[in-house]
Amino acid sequence: MYDCLRSKIVIVTGGSQGIGEAIADAFHKEGCSVYNFDVRKPEEDRAGICYIECDVSSETNVSASIAEVVKRSGRIDIVVNNAGIEKYNAAGEVPSEEWDEIIGVNLKGSFLMSKYAIPHLLRTKEGVILYTASVQSSMVQKRDAAYVTSKHALLGLARSVAIDYAPYIRSVAICPGTILTPLQLWCARQEVGNDPEKVERKLAQWGRLCPMERQGKPEEVANVAVFMATSYASYVTGTCIYIDGGLSSFIPESAPGQEKV
Ligand SMILES: NC(=O)c1ccc[n+]([C@@H]2O[C@H](COP(=O)([O-])OP(=O)(O)OC[C@H]3O[C@@H](n4cnc5c(N)ncnc54)[C@H](O)[C@@H]3O)[C@@H](O)[C@H]2O)c1
Repeated sequence: MYDCLRSKIVIVTGGSQGIGEAIADAFHKEGCSVYNFDVRKPEEDRAGICYIECDVSSETNVSASIAEVVKRSGRIDIVVNNAGIEKYNAAGEVPSEEWDEIIGVNLKGSFLMSKYAIPHLLRTKEGVILYTASVQSSMVQKRDAAYVTSKHALLGLARSVAIDYAPYIRSVAICPGTILTPLQLWCARQEVGNDPEKVERKLAQWGRLCPMERQGKPEEVANVAVFMATSYASYVTGTCIYIDGGLSSFIPESAPGQEKV
């Protein structure tokens, strides 16, 4: 438990499932008041986590939802921009509407949340904004152009906020590798179809791509997000941290067990 987090007012976007759900739960366990801004209600109501229906790509939704939090809780201390979507296409193939949708949620959504939360975070003089970026903020998977572009750009946004608002707001990007969530399942099905055995094999194969030879758990990302928001990380801003089992440091040729020529 981190005493410094008790009673903080936290907003997590995309908190209805996956990494966002784990982050919302982790802040709640620390004694924070947590708001989940999501387009979709969570499957089960979670005690202590307040759901607000919000499409982060809509400016009117975001401004109204932020105002609602301030009306109910009086302030905002921590924002986690986590909502994200992914669809596979190379730049030459991606329909323009799909490009706008992915950039709209992943990048513009994080911008809008930042824009409307920053005045409130400044008032606390120790605000924190986290951005769920990705290993794909510096690495590139094939046929994933819009998603990759959005995640690269998020590092720029995280750094800009850090530079423009220091020392009153700390801004950090967290970069997960392959984490087992509903999004991952969806990605695996895009590649191998719905056969559960094939999906299982695909997920295991993705896990083996990193030196730790397994996928990460949402809680392993949430633990880092929580730490980044504590006073123990008080000199950390304008940077990113990888939670990827070593994936982003790894040259595939050195994969364990790979035959040498
Ligand atoms: N799972 C991974 O391996 C992985 C790896 C790197 C980065 N990420 C990033 O982590 C974040 C969470 O990913 P996840 O795997 O938990 O995804 P997920 O699809 O399981 O959950 C995403 C959540 O975001 C919500 N959401 C989608 N569009 C929204 C919108 N317009 N407004 C508000 N909420 C919206 C969804 O309803 C859902 O609850 C994303 O930004 C994703 O890009 C995930």
